[in-house]
Amino acid sequence: MRLAVNIDHVATIRQVRKAEEPDPVTAAAFAELAGAQGITIHLRGDRRHIQDRDVELLRRTVTTRLNVEMAGTREMVRLAQSFKPDQVTLVPERRDELTTEGGLDVMLHSGSLEGVVRELRDSAIDVSVFVDPDLEQIRACHKLGVPIIEINTGKYADNWKSSRGAAELEKVANAARGARKLGLRVLAGHGLTYRNVDAIARIQEIEELNIGHSIIARAVLVGLERAVREMAELMHSPRS
Ligand code: PXP
Repeated sequence: MRLAVNIDHVATIRQVRKAEEPDPVTAAAFAELAGAQGITIHLRGDRRHIQDRDVELLRRTVTTRLNVEMAGTREMVRLAQSFKPDQVTLVPERRDELTTEGGLDVMLHSGSLEGVVRELRDSAIDVSVFVDPDLEQIRACHKLGVPIIEINTGKYADNWKSSRGAAELEKVANAARGARKLGLRVLAGHGLTYRNVDAIARIQEIEELNIGHSIIARAVLVGLERAVREMAELMHSPRS
């Protein structure tokens, strides 16, 4: 199973200060050096973290695969056609949400999605759709000619410690099996952490996990000791 690292929150830290660092382009290079098999970013309509400049530079520097999550708007389709990422993942987007809140309702939006999927595929971009673990939604993806789905593991992640955890895990596994039977490629992600990833990583039908927040959160803590030491050393032996 491949690991694609979502580096949005490196950009979040940069954007809270509108500073130059940390640069998600550098983060992507480190993630790839460490073994990430893909880099994922979400270009949001409000540009709260990833900026157009990041997509442009990542397109030129990512050596694995660049996956850009986006809403299926005219603006985003145009940008995808100009940046040409390896893959676009279509997600629902609400301006005031903290993060993507659920899968795309493909049945509800099939009219507008059909053209978006066709345009992206005609531009030689792989298209994935982020969906809840629901076979009706997955069948709707298949009908639209979508080749890849990313199953939303958010509900499982919210409930894995409670009595509902097993049922949510089963929904993800069933959705993955159903999608494979239809010939779709199956990815998954959202809310996965060092503590809850194991059960999802055992689902054979899933070929790739997209993990972001938990990895960046851990990087902040495991890197903090070294970062503080380096600053203290610099203060005690200042360059002239
Ligand atoms: N997949 C999709 C479609 C997402 O929107 C996100 C969050 O940007 C992720 C995966 C990664 O989720 P997390 O940051 O919780 O690992």
